[in-house]
Amino acid sequence: MMSKSFLGPLNHVGVAVPDIYKAIDFYENILGVEGITTPIDLPSQGVTYSFVNLSSGQVELIQPYGENSPIHKFLSKNPKGGQHHICFEVADIHKASDKMKEKGMRVLNEPRIGAHGTLVVFLHPGDSGGVLIELMETP
Ligand code: CO
Repeated sequence: MMSKSFLGPLNHVGVAVPDIYKAIDFYENILGVEGITTPIDLPSQGVTYSFVNLSSGQVELIQPYGENSPIHKFLSKNPKGGQHHICFEVADIHKASDKMKEKGMRVLNEPRIGAHGTLVVFLHPGDSGGVLIELMETP
């Protein structure tokens, strides 16, 4: 039985960047964050990503990968990059997806494996105050 609020913790904030190495340099050398993960390509989602690990959660740096990357459109509007999505954990992605559909939300994809190796869905920002929301099954 899902409780009324089924959201778990905020897992990460996704930040789209035109150059992931420049972004890593910023977080490392200006903000002084250590242990940022080496960029990894995720062709199925059209992104190259790195995690900036903080005690409160992560910043997920995402650079477009491939011609059909969904990040190109975002960067064409925000050439310097910017905040792209926020991600909340849920216990069961299929139940969460069904619940969102029941409530009239547009769920943009069937559950698929995300950068953290667990299933994710995205909710249309037009239904959520302009914020692209990622729901991610708790790792
Ligand atoms: Co994400």
